[in-house]
Amino acid sequence: MRKEFGVGIIGFGTVGAGVVECLLRNGELIGRRTGVHPRIVRIADLDIVSDRGVAVDPDWLTTDAAALIADPAVDVVVELVGGTSAALDFILAALAAGKPVVTANKALLAEHGDRVFEAAAAARQDVFYEASVGGGIPIIKAMREGLVGNRINSVVGILNGTCNYILTRMEAEGAPFDEVLAAAQAAGYAEADSGFDIDGWDTAHKASIIASLAYGEWFGMKPLHVEGVRNISLRDIRYAKRLGYRIKLLAVVRQEAGDVQIRVHPALLSTDSMLGNVGGVFNAIMVCGDPVGETLYYGRGAGREATASAVVADILDVGLNLAADSARRIEAFRPHEGFGGIIPIERIRTRYYLRLQLVNRPGVLCRVARVLGDLDISLASVNQQESDEAAEGMEPAAVPVVILTHEACEKDMQSALVQLRELDVVAEPPVMLRIEDLG
Ligand code: HSE
Repeated sequence: MRKEFGVGIIGFGTVGAGVVECLLRNGELIGRRTGVHPRIVRIADLDIVSDRGVAVDPDWLTTDAAALIADPAVDVVVELVGGTSAALDFILAALAAGKPVVTANKALLAEHGDRVFEAAAAARQDVFYEASVGGGIPIIKAMREGLVGNRINSVVGILNGTCNYILTRMEAEGAPFDEVLAAAQAAGYAEADSGFDIDGWDTAHKASIIASLAYGEWFGMKPLHVEGVRNISLRDIRYAKRLGYRIKLLAVVRQEAGDVQIRVHPALLSTDSMLGNVGGVFNAIMVCGDPVGETLYYGRGAGREATASAVVADILDVGLNLAADSARRIEAFRPHEGFGGIIPIERIRTRYYLRLQLVNRPGVLCRVARVLGDLDISLASVNQQESDEAAEGMEPAAVPVVILTHEACEKDMQSALVQLRELDVVAEPPVMLRIEDLG
């Protein structure tokens, strides 16, 4: 007998429409492949009038999400509303009604994951969240199941499609930040509030979910160091490139002797590295485990189709669990290993890129080198870039100097920045970026 299960979708926006389109286009194939057939029975949205570019049965549409959750024909509730208030209510209501949930909502999980997973455990239901991290890349399943035999040493990822798209086009075309951000919004990559993307919060939500999967502690947002890409200039992108690096917004999750660092910030990656060559809307996540070693996952990190692919995979997991009566076969999240604590950003050690605008007179480099040397920060290279004025035969007031350091402690680098800002030969606030050496 044909095994069908009913799908109810709350939120008929970009991702919701993508999920409906994928289920309509590939539903039969999915059913033949898995033996269980997903059948859309309800779609709830406040706007059920606008054309989403996909033909739906008008009987599916409702403005009443509570009625969708209560509908006995709905076997799985798919939350694609976004945000952290109404979406949380829908998820808790679905679990209380004894229904499994699929969500793409990384902000909600990062901020209220503890409540959601507690409610799921109490209801003995599943919450699947593949689309919350890495768009179409099945990274949650890879970490939860494929890498279950490993201790995770580190996860380093490019996790925001919007930022990667912006940085890639700035480098390739010299395009201004605001112009490429507008293009990312038009392509459906950016969050409703694009500040979540460019200020690093979206990446931080994803980093928190990844860290919790890796180390068995629901971290939430408290321990994260977060910086975005709003202040990355074309100038620094160009200087980094000349030195053999690309600037990427990175999430770094790393275990050191039982403690964990979780940080999100722009970083220089070698143009020879695999992550350094991930361009456009693509995401990539490098997971290093024991015993597996390095593994790399790559794919579109944002957009209707990529996200829909991940949501549909979760819907099918629910369908298979329903057919086999095997709900909670794999718990969404389970504490599994003690760890010492969070390593604050001040304690990390890394290499640094420093750009200084220095007054053009003899002896200034000496004063800069003394500040860095006194703090035990060793210089790997010093590059004085010829200014535009010098190229035109005029005497420049200040010249850009780019310094790469050897590995140093963040606390010392922060002290150096304070002291450098106070030097009368430093014409503008220094720019500091971390360098991430991979592999
Ligand atoms: N705004 C997000 C991004 C969407 O650009 O990556 C996918 O989570």
